Amino acid sequence: MAGPAWARVFSAAAPGPTVPVMTTTAPHLLHVDSSIQGDRSVTRALSRRVVDGWLAANPGGSVNYRDLAASPPPHLGADAWDARFVPADQHSDAHAEAFALSRELIGEVEAADAIVLGLPLYNFGPPTSVKAWVDHLVFPGLSVKDDMSEGLLTGRRVIAVVARGGSYAEGTPRHGWDHAEQWLTHILSMVGLTPEFVATVAEVRPALAHLQPQAEASRAAAHSAIDKIWARAAA
Ligand SMILES: Cc1cc2nc3c(=O)[nH]c(=O)nc-3n(C[C@H](O)[C@H](O)[C@H](O)COP(=O)(O)O)c2cc1C
Repeated sequence: MAGPAWARVFSAAAPGPTVPVMTTTAPHLLHVDSSIQGDRSVTRALSRRVVDGWLAANPGGSVNYRDLAASPPPHLGADAWDARFVPADQHSDAHAEAFALSRELIGEVEAADAIVLGLPLYNFGPPTSVKAWVDHLVFPGLSVKDDMSEGLLTGRRVIAVVARGGSYAEGTPRHGWDHAEQWLTHILSMVGLTPEFVATVAEVRPALAHLQPQAEASRAAAHSAIDKIWARAAA
């Protein structure tokens, strides 16, 4: 590939229409978890609470669940990248497989009126499975215009519940070191989505037991914020 400009690379893609995965007109929600901490996970409990609230506000609504920790998408590799600009009728099997994965993941978002994402902070960033999921979602011609000028997934709410071990607020020693929320906001803006965040401090290690009251207050505030999310939508 002889170094074409970014926009020209993408304008050569011929991805065709995205295949919808749902045909129902009933409200539909995509629930995505990514915590590697199983039953101990804070974000899994919080995302469940958001989904339960949505189901209460949308009787008859349906939910599609994707567990990125149990079934992580592959890292974005060379074939997935090339599949974005090699014409579809010249796709190798590996291109076609990567293309199909992007269409599946984008189709799940397109089918949803709302998306709920559990977003733990690991090593100052999102879990790698979330990074891989988003890498496959950003696909010129499918989720963003070929010239990257406009996202194509607008019109759906994204609620991201964040849990982290410490505080990164202004005045704290690691202010600005939490790179999950800002990253998600920036990258989802490319596809036309604007995430809303509910964040909590997760757990307190025995050595930091004196911070337990703040952690509990933080969790209570998150619950309160979550319980208002769908009421706000209905207002
Ligand atoms: C692998 C790993 C890395 C972590 N890195 C950070 C970190 O960089 N900053 C932080 O504040 N907390 C960190 N934590 C604490 C998590 O943010 C906390 O456990 C939170 O509950 C994660 O969400 P979860 O319970 O849904 O997995 C880390 C936890 C794990 C397991």
